[in-house]
Amino acid sequence: MCGIVAGVSNKNVVSVLVEGLQRLEYRGYDSCGVAVYSAHAQMGQLAGLQRARSTQRVAELKAQVSGDVEAQRLEGSLGIAHTRWATHGAPLVHNAHPHFSAQFAPGSSAGSASVSSGPSVQIGLVHNGIIENYEEIKARLILLGYVFMSQTDTEVVAHLIHSHYAGDLMQALQASLSELQGAYALAVICDQEPGRLVGARQGSPLVLGLGGEAHAKTGFAGHFLASDAMALAGVTPGFVFLSEGDRVDLSVTQYTIVNTQGERVEREVRAMEAYTQGAQLGPYQHYMQKEIFEQPQAIADTLEGVQGMVPDLFDAHRGGEHPASAASGVFAAIDRVLILACGTSYYSGLTAKYWLESLAQLPTSVEVASEYRYRDSVPHPNTLVVCISQSGETADTLAALKHAQSLGMKHTLTICNVASSAMVRECALAYVTRAGVEVGVASTKAFTTQLAALFLLTLVLAKVKSRLSAKEEARHLQAMRHLPAALQAVLALEPLVMSWAEDFAAKENALFLGRGLHYPIALEGALKLKEITYIHAEAYPAGELKHGPLALVTQDMPIVTVAPNDVLLEKLKSNMQEVRARGGVLYVLADQGTHIQSEEGLHVIRMPEHYGELSPLLHVVPLQLLAYHTALKRGTDVDKPRNLAKSVTVE
Ligand code: M6R
Repeated sequence: MCGIVAGVSNKNVVSVLVEGLQRLEYRGYDSCGVAVYSAHAQMGQLAGLQRARSTQRVAELKAQVSGDVEAQRLEGSLGIAHTRWATHGAPLVHNAHPHFSAQFAPGSSAGSASVSSGPSVQIGLVHNGIIENYEEIKARLILLGYVFMSQTDTEVVAHLIHSHYAGDLMQALQASLSELQGAYALAVICDQEPGRLVGARQGSPLVLGLGGEAHAKTGFAGHFLASDAMALAGVTPGFVFLSEGDRVDLSVTQYTIVNTQGERVEREVRAMEAYTQGAQLGPYQHYMQKEIFEQPQAIADTLEGVQGMVPDLFDAHRGGEHPASAASGVFAAIDRVLILACGTSYYSGLTAKYWLESLAQLPTSVEVASEYRYRDSVPHPNTLVVCISQSGETADTLAALKHAQSLGMKHTLTICNVASSAMVRECALAYVTRAGVEVGVASTKAFTTQLAALFLLTLVLAKVKSRLSAKEEARHLQAMRHLPAALQAVLALEPLVMSWAEDFAAKENALFLGRGLHYPIALEGALKLKEITYIHAEAYPAGELKHGPLALVTQDMPIVTVAPNDVLLEKLKSNMQEVRARGGVLYVLADQGTHIQSEEGLHVIRMPEHYGELSPLLHVVPLQLLAYHTALKRGTDVDKPRNLAKSVTVE
């Protein structure tokens, strides 16, 4: 989704802004731009606010603003920059941020507004989120004579602030915010106040980078805003996660944060290095590759300190902002589970349904968040509502959570990878997974750590409900401790998966089959493949094959089958025969002891060991590797697949 970087500094900030945008590229975008204040003409633009925008990659924007001769360069110590993921208006240059508003000539006809230059007041801004009442405000502003150059909701905010401006940018921002409905993170500058950057957040994340004194390495002093601290790695030593409703007023040496009532507030300052160190690529070619190989460590970190199945594990907003709340009381009170999530997180929820119903015997429903919030459902107050999200900022899941709460379901828990996220703040209980920063759009380590946390939740609930014996608890605990080593052994299968990828790279369709616990893993394998290779892939419970999809099976259709040595294995073997009889080519992930051997049209990779209930965490890894290596062969952009965003903060 959209990304913001902005700064007011003692030096030219353009390189910081553009490099910050490059670090946000993983979030997904289709246009980008940067604007600065300069007291002199640059890049063919008059003194004042000047900008460059592009519908290509940030590298192209960088080339535009860093010309060899001074006149072709964009420089300024106050600036704002943005990557846009189009919602309102196509991904065209005139819709790209920053957007400007400039004083129109009184009495002039539409189109004569001095939008790009001139002695009048100029406002420039970048925005993440969606302004829901923009049409109504736009109509009013048009009557006032404002001329719109884009189809975006954002330009409305620029003109609105301009309409309120009377010499104080912060006051103009505050007055404007009171008229806005929807979600926003904003960074705003004005040519009349070249040492001032203001910002605000409501519903979209924004961090404040603190660098009042010159940075020891870079010499930069100043204050910065960004939608993700990663954008400011190496720029400022500390940062603040702004809270909902916060507004900030920044100069090179000072910063002020106020809440919605306009009262000055203090927020916790965090060390930048501690937060961003996991985001370096290191020896890997892609973040997705790095993140697949980090899974043993991510699981170990996520389960660190777990000694037994105690509810308190879900009280501790580990690293979060909530005070402890009583998970044991909540778990005793609930008698059913409702899981809300999207995409890969939804598939981890589907897997958990099998665990929760078999081990904890709790009726569980799993809902696609964007569907749940808009359909009539039958709420029950004894429900534990579990929201699963890597980012904790997914708009659909947050809205589904609010919907569940509005229906009277108060027992809420999130499994989330970002301790400071809205999801963790909004839920009464939380388990923060410790996957570390996940940059690749295709979720990998976040998925397996979610599964680990959901398995833990299942066992804790089973114990609270007296459905887990001490012997079983000890057995599961031991299996969980062995997971990092088991994952390492699966990662060692990479060369075998690479040979499968050779075949897949030439295909345009694929089927994935699984049964029981491994049906969601087949779904996740198909999602990974389509997401980063653009191969059309579908997943089915293997028993469904004969009810329709078998018609698709030919020798051109590779069929991946997840075949652990469980109670459904013999049934699955029959389904595989149905495929073989029709010339379909099978790629099977088989456990030890399954007696499935490679032969013509049947390719087998033998998993190192059978892993019982935790087998989904292991079987998904070769599927991640298959998608990754197939994408490499097809030459697609692994970490930034087309049209997709990492953090989907719009509906
Ligand atoms: O941050 P979340 O887990 O809430 O995101 C949900 C989905 O957008 C996400 O899992 C998406 O499906 C991934 N790109 C899949 O790899």
